[in-house]
Amino acid sequence: MTQLLVARDVTELAARAEQWLIELIRDHQATNSTPFSLALAGGSTPKALYQRLAASSKTSGIDWNRVLFLWGDERNVPADHADSNYRMVRESLLDKLEIGSQSILRIPTEGDDEAQVSQTALQYEIELKRQLPLNSDGLGVIDCVLLGMGDDVHTASLFPETTALRETSRWVVANYVPKLSTWRVTLTSPLINAAKQVAFFIAGSSKGPAINTLWHGPHQPELYPSQMIQPRPGELTFFVDKPTIEGLSVPSNNRMQ
Ligand code: 6PG
Repeated sequence: MTQLLVARDVTELAARAEQWLIELIRDHQATNSTPFSLALAGGSTPKALYQRLAASSKTSGIDWNRVLFLWGDERNVPADHADSNYRMVRESLLDKLEIGSQSILRIPTEGDDEAQVSQTALQYEIELKRQLPLNSDGLGVIDCVLLGMGDDVHTASLFPETTALRETSRWVVANYVPKLSTWRVTLTSPLINAAKQVAFFIAGSSKGPAINTLWHGPHQPELYPSQMIQPRPGELTFFVDKPTIEGLSVPSNNRMQ
């Protein structure tokens, strides 16, 4: 079952996603001694959510030192670069939490060439293999993966017609994106689909056509990579705002809230 939560606008969307995520983490921490692993989305949309989590961090009842922060993908730039997903999350959330560096697993890109960015992807995968429990297929199980979606229906750095889409066993790969003429490092769809919870956080009317293609277009994941995201046995949730889905019909397998 896929869950769909629709909010009036991105502000309300961030509030609903914040409450959903806080409940998820609190429930985990109430019954587990292991850290709650949270893979964060890059881009700009989720920033409002991260800022809300930072603002409520002292009253949400979460032990942030028992959250393991991961990234769903990273641009091939240094950590202090304006385009860095790590920097966006650090500035909007991590700097406001009193947590140790052991809770933060940055993807260590530094603007490298193919050989080095491939090594970075391998290093990150090795670190995830150290930290994550495994499912029966030997894949790491992340507690929650937050994703955005681009106008071209990409997610993480799984871009249309790129080699990472065809990865069936690696957890993390370097992925060359011709349309951006750049390397990215990204979690693969097998790893994302092994997660307990996967949540898309999408806002803005510009994403309407992409969501329509995702839900109602032909099933062509090579062209529309977000169609690859079908966690099993994990759950999939869409956080969208009204402008994004104006005029769209909701797929029948969605439970609307
Ligand atoms: C990235 C993201 C990417 C992002 C989408 C949506 O590194 O850019 O991981 O997948 O989530 O491009 O980005 P916006 O939220 O900025 O529209």
